[in-house]
Amino acid sequence: MDKYLKRQSIRDNVRMQRRMLTKKQQYQYAKMLALRALKDKRIQRANKLAIFLSFDNEINTNLLINMLWKETKIVYLPVLHPFAPGHLLFMQYNPNTPLVINRLNIYEPQLDVTTLLLLNQLDICFIPLVAFDNYGNRLGMGGGFYDRMLYSWYTGEFTFCPIGLAYDCQYQTEAIPTEKWDIPLPEVITPSCHWHWNIALK
Ligand SMILES: Nc1ncnc2c1ncn2[C@@H]1O[C@H](COP(=O)(O)OP(=O)(O)OP(=O)(O)O)[C@@H](O)[C@H]1O
Ligand SMILES: [Mg+2]
Repeated sequence: MDKYLKRQSIRDNVRMQRRMLTKKQQYQYAKMLALRALKDKRIQRANKLAIFLSFDNEINTNLLINMLWKETKIVYLPVLHPFAPGHLLFMQYNPNTPLVINRLNIYEPQLDVTTLLLLNQLDICFIPLVAFDNYGNRLGMGGGFYDRMLYSWYTGEFTFCPIGLAYDCQYQTEAIPTEKWDIPLPEVITPSCHWHWNIALK
C-alpha cells in the first residue's frame, strides 16, 4: 500500500477505536493518565507546561489540567498562528481565560499577546497524537502542526521536554511509516504506561 494511504488507514483505525470507548472507560483512563503524569519528577518540578484540549475523542486532559492548576503551574494551550500557516503559538490558560472556536473547530484562548509563551521558558510540552509505535514515531491528525513545533526541540534550539498523551489503544505494534518531516517523540504517557525512547537530536 502507498505510504500516504497506509498512514491514513492507521489514523482511521485508531480514531474508530477511540470512538468505541465507553464514557466510563474514557473517564477512568483520563484519571489514570493524569495520576501517572503527576508521578513523574520532571512534571512535578515543571513550572510552565503546554497542553491541549481534547478533540476528536482524544484522551480527556481536563483532569490533568485541573491538577496542574492546583499545583499552581502555569498552563498554556496552542493557538493557530494568525499569519504563519501551519504554525502554533502558545497562550496562557487559566480557569477564566475566554476560549473561542478556531477554523479547525478546536477551542483556543483568545489571542492576547501579553500571555504568549516564549518557547525558551517552556518546561514540558504535552503533545496530542493519533498513533505511536515502539520507536516513538508519531502520527497526528495530518496538519504537520506539531512536527513544525517539535522541530525547534529536535534541532536543540529549545530544551523543553515533549511528552505525547494517548490511550493505550493508540499504540501500533507495526512500525508507523514515517515521512522526512516527522519528529519522533522521546516519551508517551498512556493510562497504563510511561514510554521512553532515546531520540538522537539533529
Ligand atoms: N517542518 C515542516 N515544514 C514544512 N511542512 C511540514 C513540516 N512538517 C510537516 N509538514 C507538512 O504538513 C503536512 C502534514 O504532515 P503529517 O502528515 O506528518 O502531519 P501529522 O504529524 O499527522 O500532524 P500534526 O503534527 O499536526 O499532529 C505534510 O503535508 C507536510 O508537508
Ligand atoms: Mg507528522
